[in-house]
Amino acid sequence: MHITDIILKKRSGEALTKEEIDFFIKGYVDGSIPDYQASALLMAIWFNGMNPQETTDLTLSMVASGDTVDLSGIDGIKVDKHSTGGVADTTTLVAAPLVAACGGRVAKMSGRGLGHTGGTLDKLESIPGLSIEQPMEIFQKLVNTIGLSVIGQTGNLVPADKKLYALRDVTVTVDNMSLIAGSIMSKKIASGADAIVLDVKTGSGAFMKTAEDSVELAKSMVEIGKLAGRATVALVTDMNQPLGNAVGNALEVQEAIEILRGEHPGDLKDVAFALSAWMLRLAGLADDEAAAMKMLTNALESGAALDALSRMIEAQGGDPKICEDTSKLPRAGKLISVKAERDGWISEMDNTEIGISAMLLGAGRQTKADVIDPAVGLWMKKRIGEQVAVGDELAVFHVNEEKNLDEALKRFKAAVKISGEKPDKLPLIYHVVE
Ligand code: URA
Ligand code: CA
Repeated sequence: MHITDIILKKRSGEALTKEEIDFFIKGYVDGSIPDYQASALLMAIWFNGMNPQETTDLTLSMVASGDTVDLSGIDGIKVDKHSTGGVADTTTLVAAPLVAACGGRVAKMSGRGLGHTGGTLDKLESIPGLSIEQPMEIFQKLVNTIGLSVIGQTGNLVPADKKLYALRDVTVTVDNMSLIAGSIMSKKIASGADAIVLDVKTGSGAFMKTAEDSVELAKSMVEIGKLAGRATVALVTDMNQPLGNAVGNALEVQEAIEILRGEHPGDLKDVAFALSAWMLRLAGLADDEAAAMKMLTNALESGAALDALSRMIEAQGGDPKICEDTSKLPRAGKLISVKAERDGWISEMDNTEIGISAMLLGAGRQTKADVIDPAVGLWMKKRIGEQVAVGDELAVFHVNEEKNLDEALKRFKAAVKISGEKPDKLPLIYHVVE
């Protein structure tokens, strides 16, 4: 078999066989297929797509490129959640403790953020002392006793994705349905969970900008999950504005804690509840949505969910006192208020640009080598549909390093559109794929 034939076949718009896909993945991981040929194939896939069979074959081939995690030391149904990536998307830090407090088993291996979307690991590492590197025995023990643990992906889990993702990033081939589905589902399948709830983002801050594409991606991932023997559900949710108000690592931990304290209603809480309800249902702990919502509300109001988060933080070496007093989290030196420059309604946001503004302040990475400042970011004060007058506060920037501040401010102001007409209300949950 020759890689040039495979590139030509895909370039001509034909479907690849399982053997051809295996040959590519194996060869790319072992180095016999160089980056330039892999890049050409990725671009051919980007233009011509892959059918459902090819997408499943790609995923399983990627799973086979490395180790898989054995979670059999954990009792009960292990349930995982995954987001395709968004801005102020702190759902894991809200949903995992809620589900744990309801008797669920959340064994989550998470990734770091790259680009404008934050990663759960980076957020957790903003908690003083907390380590996301835990031996498998400790990880399993925490899930058995507390109901949750979040750690970094282990060394050799889906090496094909590590290599391919980095190549997609620099060849502008990230936003392809089959490549995203393969990337996410290979990691979920290799991580060993029995049940998977996917949060597929849609809109200006997501990889998939239209609800139609997002639903297609959701269907593709659910199909792969089922073929791999995992109970899988996907929710397509809005990413046309930051989901929560906080964009930045310690700020997002603060917002998650405020939600778990019951102090902070809003879209982030609502999406976290919707995801958690499905996690409970797939784990067999609730029969229907109403029963699940009742359990979750109890877990929030009794303080059991916050307690689960606090216990996990302590067990992983972090300071649990942040759950009582969020001022113990890292804080930026300077607060800058960003104000509306005209009257009207907040009509639209370029959410990727808002994510990039926070990244420019130091909350995210432009390249893998960049170091995150846990304290910085921005806190949104308005949402789409709200009326504003000149001088009203749109957001507060939390700043340490001012090097990119002007650019961040400029991009943020251009991203938040104020118009003379009240916009239509956006849906929060567009679709559920079961
Ligand atoms: N998240 C992933 O893990 N992979 C993708 O391709 C996109 C989002
Ligand atoms: Ca994420």
